[in-house]
Amino acid sequence: MAPTLKNPELFRTKPFVNGKWIDSTSTKTFQVIDPATEELIAELPDQSPAEIDEAIKITHEAFLKYKHTSPYDRAKWLRKMYELMHENLDDLATLITWENGKCLTDAIGEIKYAASYFEWFAEEAKRMYGHTIQPSNPNNKVITYKQPVGAVGLLCPFNFPSAMGARKAAPAFAAGCSCILKPDAQTPLSSLALAYLAQKAGFPDGVFNVVLSSIESTPMVGLKFCESSLIKKISFTGSTPVGKLLMKQSSSTLKKLSMELGGNAPIIIFDDAKLDIAVDQSIASKFRSLGQTCVCANRIYVQSGVYDEFCEKFAAKVREFKIGNGFEPGVTHACVINQKSIEKVETHLQDALEKGATLLVEGGRLPKLGKNFYAPTVIKDVTQDMKVINEETFGPLGAIVKFDTKEQVLHWCNDTPFGLASYVFSENLNNIWYISEYLETGMVSVNTGLFTDAALPFGGVKESGFGREGSLYGVDDYTVVKSITLGNVYHYS
Ligand code: SIN
Repeated sequence: MAPTLKNPELFRTKPFVNGKWIDSTSTKTFQVIDPATEELIAELPDQSPAEIDEAIKITHEAFLKYKHTSPYDRAKWLRKMYELMHENLDDLATLITWENGKCLTDAIGEIKYAASYFEWFAEEAKRMYGHTIQPSNPNNKVITYKQPVGAVGLLCPFNFPSAMGARKAAPAFAAGCSCILKPDAQTPLSSLALAYLAQKAGFPDGVFNVVLSSIESTPMVGLKFCESSLIKKISFTGSTPVGKLLMKQSSSTLKKLSMELGGNAPIIIFDDAKLDIAVDQSIASKFRSLGQTCVCANRIYVQSGVYDEFCEKFAAKVREFKIGNGFEPGVTHACVINQKSIEKVETHLQDALEKGATLLVEGGRLPKLGKNFYAPTVIKDVTQDMKVINEETFGPLGAIVKFDTKEQVLHWCNDTPFGLASYVFSENLNNIWYISEYLETGMVSVNTGLFTDAALPFGGVKESGFGREGSLYGVDDYTVVKSITLGNVYHYS
């Protein structure tokens, strides 16, 4: 049965362009399906290439006006957006659980997290400082300031239907950029609800646009964004292969890019760690959204002295999970987004078992709950040659590896093209510092499995991408530095 919203206006099924819910001329549509019940939620238009072109043009035209707005007004609209998200918390969370499947408590957490980006960047909007610089010629002065880069294209994933759009749009609005957002075809409703609230918050028409496409048409929209000279920047969260493709496609217009791509996050647990904290936090990281976040622990390295105890405690906690429909009270873990997710878990599991891993918690499909339900599985005696170590699983499979020395584990952790997040559990500051310094990841989390926050610079290195979202650096990705040289200044004194 469809959940009811306190404010039914938040449920939108049309593209939002130039402040209007537009009637698409496309004859094609795509379906949004509840991954828990497999019931149809809505049928949305699969927009045509011409409509995407038109929306890009409108986003650019809106930028030409919006860039002249006062940062104080932008701060006011951003702050209002934060407040509106809190006022509509229940409905927004309901939309997330409905289209993404995650538990309602996680969805509520996501809305608070998403809203916090608007709050944070409301404050940053007024703090786009420049420098004054003394160049080599004593008669000259240089001043720098930051200008908005232009209209930006935001390509968002399914795993955080609200927070990923918020994390990109909020700094863009703060900087003075207009946005055209393309949500994942599986979870577009949360982005449309954000567009509805953005209008209520006071953002001028055309500053926040949401276009819609099916999974099949998504490459067309990506290509349009990349090849348009009217879009000056793209921010993408998704897989590394797609990130590489977008980069190639953007080369003809030399676009500014932010790429938040795949991870293969390791957790390292040293003998001296507080074990119960390490167990709880490893579980929180590994099974957050059932493993469907880019920063979820993919590989759990445990030092030999505490390996057996850790495995036992970890497995015992996983057996306590309550799996069910995300709307059901008390459910701790719900369903994954689709069959591809489960198939990847199964491939990694089978490969690991064939190569000698031991099953610690036998999870598996839960057909009585629905096609997309899969009980979390845990394996130990995992080795470096297994797929689960070398590829991001992005699903509910915990893989535990034994290690002896810090040099060995550091080598294993860094032996991957990816470098997004990593985790260290230890009470020894030398270990913590040494490992944190040498881990090749953009983010290191020490003694906690949950670290993301609007105040944190989120982003990776290596093939996990580049750019930083959130924090005092977040606006920079949406600005360009202009330098102005004042010559012969002493003539005028
Ligand atoms: C992600 O999966 O990319 C986002 C995770 C987070 O922001 O916590």
